[in-house]
Amino acid sequence: MSKKNAFYAQSGGVTAVINATACGVIETARKHKNRIANVYAGRNGIIGALTENMTNTNRESARTIAGLKHTPGGAFGSARYKLKGLEENRAEYERLVEVFKAHNIGYFFYNGGNDSMDTAHKVSLVSRKMGYPVSCLGVPKTVDNDLPITDNCPGFGSVAKYVAVSTKEAALDVLSMAETSTKVFVLEVMGRHAGWIAAAGGLAGSGASHEAPHIILFPEIPFKKRAFLQRVKKCVQDYGYCVIVVSEGAQYANGRFLAEAGTTDAFGHAQLGGVAPVVANLVRENLGFKYHYAVADYLQRSARHIASATDVKQAYAVGKAAVKMALAGETAVMPVIKRVSDKPYRWKIEKAPLARIANKEKKLPRRYISKDGFSITSAGRRYLEPLILGEDYPPYINGLPNYVTLKNVPVSKKLKTNFVV
Ligand code: F6P
Repeated sequence: MSKKNAFYAQSGGVTAVINATACGVIETARKHKNRIANVYAGRNGIIGALTENMTNTNRESARTIAGLKHTPGGAFGSARYKLKGLEENRAEYERLVEVFKAHNIGYFFYNGGNDSMDTAHKVSLVSRKMGYPVSCLGVPKTVDNDLPITDNCPGFGSVAKYVAVSTKEAALDVLSMAETSTKVFVLEVMGRHAGWIAAAGGLAGSGASHEAPHIILFPEIPFKKRAFLQRVKKCVQDYGYCVIVVSEGAQYANGRFLAEAGTTDAFGHAQLGGVAPVVANLVRENLGFKYHYAVADYLQRSARHIASATDVKQAYAVGKAAVKMALAGETAVMPVIKRVSDKPYRWKIEKAPLARIANKEKKLPRRYISKDGFSITSAGRRYLEPLILGEDYPPYINGLPNYVTLKNVPVSKKLKTNFVV
């Protein structure tokens, strides 16, 4: 069988463990040198393929590649860039195939969330249609945990652990001073339209009503101001303080977000963020309690220092499996995590067609949310708990994590024309 090169790119919001997946892809490809000559990485996702802006990962040492496993961020740059439909923008697809042909690329690994699975799916269709079939594998990643079919998404377990740990620690701080000072603490977390990350805040306590967090605001449960304020008041009366975890996607019954930045990304998604001050102000204006709030923002999805060991393992495993699937002749599929048991947590990797995953959002099921809509159920806890298990600390030097930096040696361009995105 002839040797081909592989193209790997990262897409969408990065995570603490997306580079562990890159490590899985590259290390596995290196074990099959008879089939995969080089792994080229796209600079800034699919844009790197369109603009022929790629780096050759074969120029990195085995040690550096191994170091990706404990390095957060996206080592090759990531992008939010949506390929249009074939009929709307044939030129983009023709360009992609041209670049793949010029660089003898036979495998395409696209590491991202639901929008990125759409891209990977389209590339698989188009490459076949244009007579240059490429094995296209989606590789799952998203802190939002909203990809269907897979039990969970690499990146989520670590953000879940960060949020649970931060909620637990901040709650102890608030409790210490509640008598004379701050009574309410609000933590804003990501997750877009799905409440998975907010739900993970619930792991901070045992589920007993006096333990923090006392209130979780999920996007799946329409926000009702009166019920919310009553609950805050009661918590402060009963326990002396109130810790609230709010999802950036929290919304009113009419679908309006509590906070919307007013901007949208390349996919037309509203940019969310800033709900914590909105909620905190509601509390002060209506109840007069002193508050503090925190917006976890990028801290949560980059927090490799407190990553979940389970998440790191799964992130690596999906990268490895994607290469194995491609070598077995698969295309237009994504490796998915299948839960075998909760306790002890057992899982295996299977595959699912991209067509069933692209552009679909898996929300937090109602059965994981308590009847009153303010906390998680034992079923939710059973699902979440194993995902944050284990610690995988990065090596430290001079008191700081010792993250790797790649050389990122560019692949020489072969095409005469430039492509402007
Ligand atoms: O899609 C993952 C995510 O982290 C969301 O939870 C968040 O809303 C979004 O990315 C932020 O995107 P950006 O970094 O492009 O502003």
